[in-house]
Amino acid sequence: MNTTSFDFGMIGLGVMGRNLLLNMADHGFSVVGFDKDASKTTTLETSATPGTTVKGVNTLAEMIASLKKPRKLMMLVPAGKPVDDVIGDLLPLLEKGDIVIDGGNSHYTDTLRRVGFLKDKSFHFMGVGISGGEHGARTGPSIMPGGDPEAYANVQPLLEAVSAKVNGSPCVAYLGKGAAGHYVKMVHNGIEYAIMQLISETYDLLHRGLGIDNDELHKIYKNWNDGELQSFLVEITRDIFLQKDDKTDNRLVDMILDKAGSKGTGKWTSQDAMDLPVPIPVIDMAVSLRDLSVYKDERTQAAALYKTTPVEIPVPKEVFIQQVQDALYFATIISYAQGLAMLHKASTELGMEIPLPEVVRVWRGGCIIRSSLLEVFYKAYQVNPQLPNLLLDGSVAHLLQAKKQNIRSVLTLAIQMGYPVAGLMASLSYFDAYRSDRLPTNLIQAQRDYFGAHTYQRIDMPGVFHTEWGK
Ligand code: 6PG
Repeated sequence: MNTTSFDFGMIGLGVMGRNLLLNMADHGFSVVGFDKDASKTTTLETSATPGTTVKGVNTLAEMIASLKKPRKLMMLVPAGKPVDDVIGDLLPLLEKGDIVIDGGNSHYTDTLRRVGFLKDKSFHFMGVGISGGEHGARTGPSIMPGGDPEAYANVQPLLEAVSAKVNGSPCVAYLGKGAAGHYVKMVHNGIEYAIMQLISETYDLLHRGLGIDNDELHKIYKNWNDGELQSFLVEITRDIFLQKDDKTDNRLVDMILDKAGSKGTGKWTSQDAMDLPVPIPVIDMAVSLRDLSVYKDERTQAAALYKTTPVEIPVPKEVFIQQVQDALYFATIISYAQGLAMLHKASTELGMEIPLPEVVRVWRGGCIIRSSLLEVFYKAYQVNPQLPNLLLDGSVAHLLQAKKQNIRSVLTLAIQMGYPVAGLMASLSYFDAYRSDRLPTNLIQAQRDYFGAHTYQRIDMPGVFHTEWGK
C-alpha cells in the first residue's frame, strides 16, 4: 500500500482504540493506528485479522501523511487535557475539511468548547459517544455521533459498518447538534449507573435476605435474562455468579471488596440534570450509593454501632423471587424514563435537537444498557417522537401498572427488615410523585412566601400573590 492511501486513523491504541480500529479493518477499511508506545503499535499489528490492512506508527506526522484526503481520524484518549493536547498537536498537521472524532467519554461542555474553537479555523471536530466496552469495540458497539451533519455524512458509512446491528439496522445515527453525541453518551452512562445499582439491590435481597447461594443466583438471573428482563447487564450478572476465584476456592464475586469506583459520567449526568432542571432521582441515588460504598471504614464502624442480626425475609422463596423480579423490571423502566426525559429537556433547553426515537434505536444493540425493553420504548417514540416522559405512554403505563404492587411489597419488607434499597425506593417514589396531580408543594410555596415574600400562584384565579402571613 502506498503511503497516502489509508482510509482511517486512530490516535491512542489502548484496548478500546485498538479494538475499534481492528473492527474497521475487519470491515474492509485500511487503517493506521498511532501510539507513542511501540509495544502498542506492535500489538495492533499482531492482533489484526490476516488479510486486513492495519499499520501501526509511532509519530503523528507519519499517520497524517498516510491518510487519504479529506483525512478521517478518531482519538480514543483519556477525557480532559489529553484531548486538548492531541488537538494542539493536530492543528499544524491537518487541513480544512479533515474530520477528527473524539470517541472518548469527554464532558459535553468540553466538546462544545472544542467545536466552537475549531469552527471556521481548521478541521471538523465531532464528539461521538461509543458504548460496548472492549468486546463491543471489536465486534460492534453502539455509536452516538453529534455535531456537524456534513462531517457525519462523511464518516457515516464507516460508522454504520462497524456498529452493532439490530434486525439489520446499524446502531448508529446522527443524534443532534454541537455536543449531542457526548451528551447522549453521558445520559446513557447515568442510566447504566441506575440499572447497576438496582441489580445490586436485588442481589442483596436474594443473597442476604433469602440466603440464596451463587449457583442458585445464577439460575435466577438466567431465568430473568431469558424472559422480560433480557438485557446485557442482567446477562453479565448471571455469569458473574459462576466465576471462580483463581486465588481461593471461593466464587470471585464473594472475594471482591464492596467499594465501587467511578470515572465521573454518572455524576456529570446528575449535575447536569440539576442544572436543567429535570428530576432523575434513581440515577442520583445510584451515584450517591457508589460514593457511599467508598466510605468502607465508616460503614464498618457504623455496622458495629448499630448492630442488627440479619433476618431472613419471611415470605415463601418463590413468591419473593417473583416480586423482586417485578420490582427490578419496574425500577428499570423508571431509570430509562428519567434518562430519556432528561434528553427530551436537554434537546430543547440546550438547543441540541436530539431525536429520541433514534437514540432509543441506537441503544437497542451494542451498548451497555441494551435490553429488550428498548423495543417497547422504540414503539412508544414511534407513536409520539416528542413524548416528554415514557410514563405518559399507554403501553409503558400498562407494564408499570402490572408490576407496581410487587415493588411495593418488596420495599415494604426490605424497609422493615433494614435492607438498603435506595435505588428501588427512588424509582417508586418518583413514580408516586409523577402520577400525583396534587403534590404537597402548595405548603412549600406558602412557606417560601411566609419567610421570603417569594409569592405564590392560586388554584382559583390567575396572577401572582403575596400574603403578610400571621397578620
Ligand atoms: C460503555 C461504558 C464505558 C465505561 C464507563 C464506566 O458504555 O461502554 O459506559 O463508557 O465502562 O467508563 O464508567 P465508570 O467508571 O464511571 O463506572
